[in-house]
Amino acid sequence: MSPLHLLRQPILTLCLILFAGAACAQTAPAFTPSVGQEGKDVVWVPTPQALVDKMIALARVTASDILIDLGSGDGRTVITAAKRGARATGIEYNPDMVELSKRNAEQAGMTGKANFMKADLFETDLAQATVITMFLLPDINLKLRPKLLELKPGTRIVSNTFTMGEWVSDDSVTADGTEGCSFYCKAYLWIVPVKAEGIWKMAQGELDLKQSFQMLAGTLKSGGKALTLANGRIRGDQIVFTAGGIEYSGKVDGNQMSGTTKAGGANTWSATRSAAPAK
Ligand SMILES: C[S@@+](CC[C@H](N)C(=O)[O-])C[C@H]1O[C@@H](n2cnc3c(N)ncnc32)[C@H](O)[C@@H]1O
Repeated sequence: MSPLHLLRQPILTLCLILFAGAACAQTAPAFTPSVGQEGKDVVWVPTPQALVDKMIALARVTASDILIDLGSGDGRTVITAAKRGARATGIEYNPDMVELSKRNAEQAGMTGKANFMKADLFETDLAQATVITMFLLPDINLKLRPKLLELKPGTRIVSNTFTMGEWVSDDSVTADGTEGCSFYCKAYLWIVPVKAEGIWKMAQGELDLKQSFQMLAGTLKSGGKALTLANGRIRGDQIVFTAGGIEYSGKVDGNQMSGTTKAGGANTWSATRSAAPAK
């Protein structure tokens, strides 16, 4: 047998394998997901498109956003955000769903704009996100909550149906009654609050802020009196509270904050944090 013949035989075998593979690839049915199919931590149930649209609107997603969908399923939320111009990425553990999402993105003309990664949502770096979307479970939301609270102040988090325990939502939306939405038709929005707790020195006195998520309480010690704060609230890096009947609103930037009051006369104020809260 000539050396050439020996070489040809494996080539022939390889060709047969390749041909069979190609034939198989042509006849193998494309992966079709089924509602309720197992997932690593959560089964797959798609968010109705009517609610996806409302979630993206609730988060006010624009072209300057970086959106991450945790457990992205068939990619619908990521594709919808990409259509608004956002840089959108889906994190999905099931590789078949990742491939399906890529095909769906291609069909929607969003290849390269809607991106998908096969990864575990608990091990994914979320630091760059300006918007997080999810449809998971109550206990998973709670497990993620500490990580979400460390994201940049102002980051918007939108969850289909499931809440965040005692971190009350800043807003919500429903697609109830919309065509195509019979189950899981409500979503909630949270805006990551800046950390404002501590003792602050200001011209008006000493401000002692106590923070629970986006809610603020505390006192302003001024002119020998301790004024109890009312209506204290944070939205991203914006703060508002009332003390002694005067409303203070402003912005927190590290250990400095400043803003305006709704009192007559000089209407600006500023404060410096002298003591950070004990961790
Ligand atoms: C309820 S579905 C939501 C799908 C999509 N976000 C939507 O709203 O249509 C949850 C998805 O999370 C995925 N998943 C479950 N555990 C995960 C994990 N640890 N990391 C990444 N994805 C996960 C599942 O495979 C499933 O596709």
